[in-house]
This record gives sequence, C-alpha cells and structure tokens, in this order.
Amino acid sequence: MFPPCCRNDLKEVLITEQQVADRVKELADEISRDYEGKDVALLGVLRGAFVFIADLIRYLEVPFSIDFLAVESYYSGTTSSGEVRMTKDLDESVAGRHVLVVEDIIDSGLTLHYLLDLLEARHPASLSVCTLLSKPNRRKVEIPVRYTGFTIPDEFVVGYGLDYNQNYRGLPCIGILKPEIYGSS
Ligand code: IMP
Ligand code: MG
Repeated sequence: MFPPCCRNDLKEVLITEQQVADRVKELADEISRDYEGKDVALLGVLRGAFVFIADLIRYLEVPFSIDFLAVESYYSGTTSSGEVRMTKDLDESVAGRHVLVVEDIIDSGLTLHYLLDLLEARHPASLSVCTLLSKPNRRKVEIPVRYTGFTIPDEFVVGYGLDYNQNYRGLPCIGILKPEIYGSS
C-alpha cells in the first residue's frame, strides 16, 4: 500500500488513502457552497500543504487563484519552539480578496497565529483557514478554523505532504510515526 521504505517506520495507519480522498472532496464541496459567487485566493503553506491543496483544487467549483508562502518554525525533535519566520512571501497582493489559507496541520497554532496577523494587515476582504488535520489538545493559542478535515490525537503523523526530517511526504495515507524514529535523533 505504501513504499516499502516507510512501512517499518509507522506505528499505525491513522487515516487511509480512501478516507483522505473522501474528506478532501467533502471539504471542497463545502468551500464551493460557502464561496459561491466569489473568487477565492487560496494560499498554500509550504511545504506540508502542497499535496492537500493539489487534491482540493480538483474538486472546487468556484473560481480561485493559488499562491504559496513558506514559513519555518524551529523544532526540537517534534515540538515547535514557537519561533516562526516567513521564508517565502506571496507573489501577489491579497488586498480586497477572499483569502483561504490552506494548511496541512495545526498543532500549537503558533504558525497560523503568526500568519493570520500578517495577512490581516494586508486587508483581505475575508480571511479563513482550512486545515486537513488538527490536534486541538496541543493548542497554545486559539485559532479560528473554518474547515477542518480530521481532528486527531496528540501523535506525530506523517504522509500526504507531512514530513519528519523531509521524509515520508509521499505516503498516500496518514500514519503515526513510531516514536523510536524521532526519539533517537
Ligand atoms: P504549529 O505552529 O505548532 O501549529 O505547527 C504547525 C506546523 O508544524 C505544521 O504546519 C507542520 O509543518 C508541523 N507539524 C505539527 N505537527 C506535525 C505532525 O504531527 N507531523 C508533521 N508535521 C507537524
Ligand atoms: Mg505546515
């Protein structure tokens, strides 16, 4: 089901490829309904969200533009230090646009807290968040999330764009990484 290189590194498959596909389609339908008659500016947060956004747009029924930004949060092992920095800015202005930020996962919420402040200052017509995954138990700061794919427990997950040390992004499912993989680094 997934590349042999990864099989031994997963504790379990948390969300199957089919479950992800079904949920992404549902989210796209919801977004299409909510934004009917509007033109959406989708902002993908690199690098983790690139797989999710690529699948999401194939089901959207509203006009959209797509742009990307990249942020870096400093990690010790699998936990964010809370220090966030933008490493790639958007190419286009979002002033007056209906902005939908597309994220792979919200953990502490610090990355999005930083990004939403920054985007708000650029005066979009509206600003909402769509995340594939959310770990609400880990939140350090509350984030208004309009669309959530799956609420998951406090486990470190990989696949479908999410990485550990740049590995596992190509897994078609979302799996829980064995703690000994990151515990030993
Ligand atoms: P936050 O700032 O703590 O909300 O973390 C957001 C970023 O941390 C996400 O966009 C991911 O890049 C990364 N991250 C958080 N939890 C996980 C996980 O379980 N697996 C992979 N990356 C994660
Ligand atoms: Mg991310």
